[in-house]
Parts: sequence; structure tokens; C-alpha cells
Amino acid sequence: MKVMELNNVRKSFNGELDVLKDISIGVEQGEVVAIIGPSGSGKSTLLRCATLLTEMDGGGLSYSGEKAAWNDESGKTVYARDLKKIRSYFGLVFQNFNLFPHYTVLKNLTDAPVSVAGRSKADAEVTARELLDKMGLSDKADCYPCQLSGGQQQRVAIARALAMKPEILFFDEPTSALDPELTGEILKVIRQLAQEKMTMVIVTHEMAFARDVADRVIFMDGGVIVEQGDPKEVIGSPREERTRQFLSRFAN
Ligand SMILES: Nc1ncnc2c1ncn2[C@@H]1O[C@H](COP(=O)(O)OP(=O)(O)OP(=O)(O)O)[C@@H](O)[C@H]1O
Ligand SMILES: [Mg+2]
Repeated sequence: MKVMELNNVRKSFNGELDVLKDISIGVEQGEVVAIIGPSGSGKSTLLRCATLLTEMDGGGLSYSGEKAAWNDESGKTVYARDLKKIRSYFGLVFQNFNLFPHYTVLKNLTDAPVSVAGRSKADAEVTARELLDKMGLSDKADCYPCQLSGGQQQRVAIARALAMKPEILFFDEPTSALDPELTGEILKVIRQLAQEKMTMVIVTHEMAFARDVADRVIFMDGGVIVEQGDPKEVIGSPREERTRQFLSRFAN
């Protein structure tokens, strides 16, 4: 069974621009999917649809077979009334970290597990400290986000997403706000999660990383999937001219 499935997703803004045109993606347990494509191709919109931040116009969404959204008879998306359980299946890491600035690092990690998932404070703190240890941030538990570097903040954001014990993690350009050295730190963490068979969907402009870490690469342009497949094939020897053009902008 697929951990996450998007079927025939359509989305336009203000009824004008077709940002997503009939996109379908299924992600298997333990699979790492990288999504690449030019600016404006709809990558973030797709992640926002998958994580219930943006409503789809048409199409379906399910997590581990549980339906979050489906088409009515007219082909328009309707959402399940109660999405609380669905939200517990996924985590999301943004480009700009989005930590709570007025909470310590530890509180950033324990807040949702306690207030949303209903775990005990003691349990949540044990998990949080394990995750901080794993991210090399054990000594930062009592710091506030503004006291951390960008790379450290992003590692806290990843730990915060993992603290909810999601089935699947989405990343939207997790390194694009970071300089090259800090980018390396974050890619290392994601690489480690991939080795541990965490299911992940990663929107990235890091082509070498996508090629090395992903099980599958999806190239999007103009709201459609132009091609997808084995990273070495899609990035190394793309079938489609549009993919070739896009990749020629990156020195590999
Ligand atoms: N809330 C919105 N209202 C109107 N238009 C939007 C909105 N969000 C996105 N768009 C438009 O949808 C298109 C796709 O945007 P999206 O952010 O998904 O692209 P992207 O592939 O993530 O690009 P980038 O690589 O620059 O992050 C763009 O043309 C954008 O202007
Ligand atoms: Mg984007």
C-alpha cells in the first residue's frame, strides 16, 4: 500500500492560471522521491496540496489507504470532515525553518506531541532529546531559535517534524536559504534519514544530492510531470528535451 497517494490533482489560482494539471504521484514505504523543476512549475503548490495547506480544485489524496480527499460526481475535490488523523501521517519542513521564535528548542519539539498528539510531557521530552542528540544539537535544547545558525535551525525543524513520528516527511527546498557549508549539514541529515528508510518527498535544486539519495526523481514543468524515473537516468540521460534544457543550467 502507498504511504501517500495523490490522484489527478488540479489546481488553479483565481480561476485563471492552471498551476497543477492532472498530477498523480504515489509514494511507497521507505521510498525517497526528489521533485525537481523550474521556478513556478508548481512544486511547492503540489507539496501544499499533499499537506492540506492548499485546497485542490480536483483530485484525490490518501495516506496509507485512508482517504483525505476525493472527487465528487462533478469532478470537484471534497475533503474528509475530520482530518486530524490524516495530519498525523505527515511532517513538513520548509525552506525558512518556521520555528516558533518564542519557544526554546526543546519546547519547539515537545509542543505538538503534547498538545496535538496527546503524549505525556515526559515522553515527549525523551523523544525530543533523542532527536536533538541525533541532529548533533544536544547542547542547544534551552536555546531560542534566534541563537542558532541557519543550519542548526533547519536541523531543529527536521527534529520537530520527526518528533510527531510521521509516516512520511515532505521537504520544500530545505537548503535553499543556507550557504554551501550549512547546506552540507542538512543534506547529511537527510541522507542519514534515507539510510534509515524514512519515506520522504524532497523538492530540491541540489541535483547531485537528488541523484545520489533519491530512489526516484520527478521532473515537473508547467504544472505537469514531464518525466520521472531512476535518478541516474532522469538526471544523467533525460529522455525529454525540456528536462535536458532544465538540467543544462546545473553544473554536475
Ligand atoms: N497563493 C497563490 N496565489 C496565486 N498564485 C499562486 C499562489 N501560489 C502559487 N501561485 C502561482 O503558482 C505557480 C506555481 O507556484 P509554486 O510556488 O508552486 O512554484 P514552485 O515550482 O515551487 O517554484 P519555486 O522553485 O520558485 O519555489 C506560480 O506561477 C505562482 O505564481
Ligand atoms: Mg517552491
